[in-house]
Amino acid sequence: MTQRRAQITGWGKCVPPVKLTNAALEQLVDTSDQWIVERTGMKERGISHVEVTDLAEVAAKHSLAAAGLEVTDIDLLVMATVTPEITCPSNACFLQERLGLVNAAAFDLNAACSGFVYSTATVASMIESGVAERVLVIGAEKLHFVMDYWDRNQCILFGDGAGAAVFEATTDGSGVIAHDIGADGVAGRTMVFPTFGSRGELDRQRDPAIDRLHFEGQNVFKHAVRGMAASVERALERAELTSADIDLVIPHQANQRIIEATINRLGISDDKVMLNIETHGNTSAASIPMALHDALAQGRIEPGSTIVQTAFGGGLTWGTNIMKWGDRVEPIATSEADLPPTDKSVFDLLAPNREFFAPYHDKAHLT
Ligand code: UT7
Repeated sequence: MTQRRAQITGWGKCVPPVKLTNAALEQLVDTSDQWIVERTGMKERGISHVEVTDLAEVAAKHSLAAAGLEVTDIDLLVMATVTPEITCPSNACFLQERLGLVNAAAFDLNAACSGFVYSTATVASMIESGVAERVLVIGAEKLHFVMDYWDRNQCILFGDGAGAAVFEATTDGSGVIAHDIGADGVAGRTMVFPTFGSRGELDRQRDPAIDRLHFEGQNVFKHAVRGMAASVERALERAELTSADIDLVIPHQANQRIIEATINRLGISDDKVMLNIETHGNTSAASIPMALHDALAQGRIEPGSTIVQTAFGGGLTWGTNIMKWGDRVEPIATSEADLPPTDKSVFDLLAPNREFFAPYHDKAHLT
């Protein structure tokens, strides 16, 4: 009998309706549309007016409909996020209640931007070993909460959103065929959210000098290109494939130049790469499942396609999965799930953030 593997049978995404365009960023920091497009490939990103569970719920409902499954069919829920609402219960447990996944175990997985590839490696192994049958994996982030919208070095990069995928056991030869995951805690000092945790005194007030992303962009850039290319090579070797066998790469959407440099190193042509960075920015753990959704919607995945997901992120972490797609590239059903509307502008949504970080930049008079 062919080996038991994990196949993606459902997919979905949720993008907040309020957009942070490059033109809006020009009003917030000393930047230009031209600089951002040339250096990152980004033109706009979603800024969420709701909580991260709301984003995750919508993406999840679309993926369950696409898989044609009932909520009671799911036996495991994994939520990849670095922006959980609170730490206990896990965000996955919130979502389990919200969706009514009464038969599902639930846990969060934090591997920053590598969260979806780490989750895929984890749930594929659990499905292969028979621990799980039908698994819902969500990558969801509300990153704008921690960005400093006075700091042009970081605030242009990130957006909010959620992507989801349903994994099911299969023995038809398709599914996830190889993984590579890794981490470098020393290099992790290049990208730190020193918030969302138990560090420090109990009575410490939130402080704009502490509760902000520490980020060494150029350093992370170099680690990213080297790390992803080496990870893809190791995964290809394990799968006994070469880069010539790849039909589509779905990379973490951190920076178009990082993606291009990685692809060049691997000798893969540009037309085999899925990009949606222009309209979504970097959504951390949500970026690959959102790009997977868009690749299917654009007809870029065919039955039997060999697909590579690869990512790097805070930790530093990195990871790659190689999968052979199954027979179905269309959703079984669709869902009407959507976020509640909002009449807030992007400036309304970012105002609390600007107010909080202004003293750090000594720009309170400008708010
Ligand atoms: O998913 C994991 C997280 N993602 C990442 O970590 C992304 C990794 N890094 C990057 O994507 C890039 O390093 C950045 C986009 C952050 C920066 O691009 P870069 O080409 O590495 O620019 P740079 O840091 O070398 O800066 C070049 C210049 C500097 O000015 P000087 O010193 O040459 O006068 C910066 O101050 O560009 C300036 N600069 C900007 N100018 C206009 C930096 N940010 C901006 C900006 N607009 N937003």
